Amino acid sequence: MSNKITAAITAVGGFVPPDKLTNFDLEKMVETNDEWIRTRTGIEERRILKGEGLATSDMVAPAVLDLCRKRGIDPLEIDCLIVGTVTPDMVFPATANIACDKIGAKNAWSFDVSAACSGFLYTLTLGASLIESGRYKKVVVCGADKMSAIVDYSDRATCIIFGDGAGAVLLEPNTEGYGVLDSILRSDGSGCQYLHMKAGGSKNPATVETVMAKEHFVYQEGQAVFKFAVKGMADVSAELLERNNLTGDDIAWLVPHQANKRIIDATAHRMGLSPEKVMLNIQRYGNTTAATIPLCLWEWENQLKKGDNLVLAAFGGGFTWGATLVKWAY
Ligand code: UT7
Repeated sequence: MSNKITAAITAVGGFVPPDKLTNFDLEKMVETNDEWIRTRTGIEERRILKGEGLATSDMVAPAVLDLCRKRGIDPLEIDCLIVGTVTPDMVFPATANIACDKIGAKNAWSFDVSAACSGFLYTLTLGASLIESGRYKKVVVCGADKMSAIVDYSDRATCIIFGDGAGAVLLEPNTEGYGVLDSILRSDGSGCQYLHMKAGGSKNPATVETVMAKEHFVYQEGQAVFKFAVKGMADVSAELLERNNLTGDDIAWLVPHQANKRIIDATAHRMGLSPEKVMLNIQRYGNTTAATIPLCLWEWENQLKKGDNLVLAAFGGGFTWGATLVKWAY
């Protein structure tokens, strides 16, 4: 027992939309095939949020309600909600504000964080700091993206990768050494050239021309991003182990961002982890950007044991990347 306050994860919630988009569906939409997608990415199907007017906040809301139910708390008890997303309902206000209204979290202050695929690690570290400061008792951090809103379904290089979903965790103070123990986060804006959306921001506001030129979709130079991702995710994960005097043997689970199975395999290999210790659901959900890591925690929650050491690792647009060490609290 120490007096140091850490931020323990005390509940996990998730939401994936029911509609599936399989590799075979994509074969009918673009020049691709199931075999190519499976071997190059590991993806078999993804979920798509369908329905008039449905947005990212409509996935955040059920994910947060799910964790409230599991923890037996009322949304009114939430002090703060942070949503990592690159597909907000609107440019403003924040999706977190809208989600709080939808679930009746009237006592929470709330805001979004834009860190692409690292969105969950950024919000987790931020939320943990709020708990560690001693000022807040219940902070919810969420990763959520409706990637189908910004994917060009005639571009085979990007439309096969992305899917929609949301995952959230509740953070509460702990004095027994459980929770978020360390985090290394990085960013490098020179990576913007390889992964971005060209228009719709203050640089190139929306015009008829930007719409005609398909500039409101994800632009990605896949091979370049792949090279940076393999190195970035593996380097930072190895550095996190080293500075905490841990080896792969001390780690129960790697919880990697699900962008490409080959990037995940490289990171696990570098950390000296066998495949059984790696959470992998990319085959079912594809790359849900900020939602991949909390969705893994959500799916594996029943297999996690109190005291398990987890390394969460991500790389994505920005570039942003990082790795976080978590000691599981329940
Ligand atoms: O989560 C955010 C961060 N993003 C990432 O981490 C993504 C990192 N990048 C990747 O995962 C991979 O680069 C991709 C999955 C996007 C692409 O895989 P790749 O192995 O890098 O393929 P490539 O772009 O080098 O393309 C190889 C070939 C090309 O044909 P040629 O020029 O060799 O004849 C492409 O035109 O595969 C072709 N190709 C496809 N073929 C069938 C590209 N997309 C497809 C497709 N189906 N969907």
